Amino acid sequence: MAYKTLIVDIEEHVALIRLNRPDALNALNSELLAELAEAVTQAGANDKVRCIVLTGSEKAFAAGADIKEMSEKNFVDAFAGDLFTDETEALLRCRKPIIAAVAGYALGGGCELAMMCDFIIAADTAKFGQPEINLGVVAGIGGTQRLTRFVGKSKSMEMHLTGRFMDAEEAERSGLVSRIVPAKKLVEEAMAAAHKIAEKSAITTMVVKEAVNRSYETTLREGILFERRVFHSLFATEDQKEGMSAFLEKREPQFRDK
Ligand code: CAA
Repeated sequence: MAYKTLIVDIEEHVALIRLNRPDALNALNSELLAELAEAVTQAGANDKVRCIVLTGSEKAFAAGADIKEMSEKNFVDAFAGDLFTDETEALLRCRKPIIAAVAGYALGGGCELAMMCDFIIAADTAKFGQPEINLGVVAGIGGTQRLTRFVGKSKSMEMHLTGRFMDAEEAERSGLVSRIVPAKKLVEEAMAAAHKIAEKSAITTMVVKEAVNRSYETTLREGILFERRVFHSLFATEDQKEGMSAFLEKREPQFRDK
């Protein structure tokens, strides 16, 4: 499918989705969000795709929700239209791993979009922030909750209250991103991670994703019980037999997602 605000390429088993509104620093307008939901849904349904990389441009992953579009809305539009809810659910529903590859600005909804992915690889140029306070609003796609879980209350509160940006070093130190790579190598590194994930059993990657995400939603005790149960249940799969046999036979495993 042809998109106006995205460029989508499928390389072997990885879908690379690039946000592409260069004139607006990839600001998230309704068209882009609808196309992104469609692209993620399609990648999720495509048997060939085993991992997704979401990226922007060198200058911006995304500079936030589109302020021009939002400026025309009133409370009823936002509330009755449940602004940004349906548009972003597709990402959360996707059972395949999604890596955010962030260079330049990831602000407001852009930072929130990156945090909705399964992990973030940052270019050394990345800048994260929740500057909504400067517009007289607060984060609206999970920023107050997710950033707080990632970096802790003090830093999250400061970021939301002052609107200041965090550079890549600080983001890595604080646990927001998994690692930093040179900007020129960002997509290459994210694609390499995605290809590595694509080699694993898709059943196991789905279970990893569910189990790690569960840690954000439940108590430690419940989370550990969940992990124990899914760990036990993986012994019913052919891929567990294959993975362990391959190790013992000193060969690479051939997973069949069964
Ligand atoms: N919405 C709409 N357009 C945007 C935009 C946004 N969030 N961010 C940048 N743009 C547009 C600018 O209006 C400008 O367009 P024109 O050339 O037509 O004027 C173009 O992108 C380039 O931007 P700048 O000229 O401002 O570029 P800069 O390099 O001087 O500054 C920046 C870059 C610091 C990111 C600055 O653009 C900026 O502060 N952007 C807004 C960031 C922001 O407030 N984000 C939060 C949005 S609210 C939100 O996201 C709510 C939520 O949680 C859901």
